[in-house]
Amino acid sequence: MGPIVLLGVPGAGKGTQAKRLAQRYRIPHLSTGDIFREMAHSGSELGARLWTDMRQGNLVPDELVCAVVAERLAKDDCRHGYILDGFPRTVPQAEWLARFLAQPPSQGPLIVIYLTVGYNDLYRRLLGRRSCPKCGRIYNEFTQPPRQAGLCDLDQTPLVQRKDDEAAVIRERLSAYEQQTLPLVEFFRGRGRLLELSGAEPVDRVSERIFAALEANRLAAAADDPPREAEAGQS
Ligand code: AP5
Repeated sequence: MGPIVLLGVPGAGKGTQAKRLAQRYRIPHLSTGDIFREMAHSGSELGARLWTDMRQGNLVPDELVCAVVAERLAKDDCRHGYILDGFPRTVPQAEWLARFLAQPPSQGPLIVIYLTVGYNDLYRRLLGRRSCPKCGRIYNEFTQPPRQAGLCDLDQTPLVQRKDDEAAVIRERLSAYEQQTLPLVEFFRGRGRLLELSGAEPVDRVSERIFAALEANRLAAAADDPPREAEAGQS
């Protein structure tokens, strides 16, 4: 399995599906949002600067993002594939990734899963999101509540709400997405790497569709046919 990118608007379900993919394919899940939240809470000066950007719904500067991703991808566990959740998010980040993947050793074809969800659903998803600070499992008060209110099903840790999941910040995040991330759809489509799937169905159904699309893609590549939408090879 080559690198997989999960692309989509805030609340599309990237983190939810990335965790399932990581479990299924036993490859690491790299969430730049999670990495920056951890750095932001570290108490460092850099962390404080990051938090200012994130708290306002702005993107973190490209140079810093690419440096953090490069450091993480250099680790041994990324040798046999990985899932990028929330990266790339700008055209310069995508260009950096293309250059990175073009270097040896070959990492297999990049596949971009683009999850689409109507804007009407997003506020409900983001305002209702709760997550477990211990195991990272994601819940939703409306659509995916825990069995016991406010507690993680797996380890009974009290769930928390992200500080950027408030209406005013969500508006800014959606605006940053439209201006800086949406152009990546055409960027990857133009390079034959995009698998566009609806993220609006129930979580299990979305997972099934992603697994099926990846399997179809893998079989097509194995048969040495051009895969349906995402094409083998690096740009
Ligand atoms: P990040 O953490 O990446 O946030 P995001 O992209 O805004 O995405 P979210 O995590 O909000 O949504 P998601 O698509 O993962 O949805 P989820 O699965 O949680 O980034 C945060 C910040 O970090 C950015 O604003 C920026 O400042 C900075 N940053 C990060 N990466 C960066 C980069 N590359 N460059 C620059 N800055 C960067 O699901 C959401 C909710 O919906 C959950 O409650 C879930 O239970 C529910 N849900 C999911 N799927 C379904 C479904 N199918 N049906 C019903 N409910 C569902």
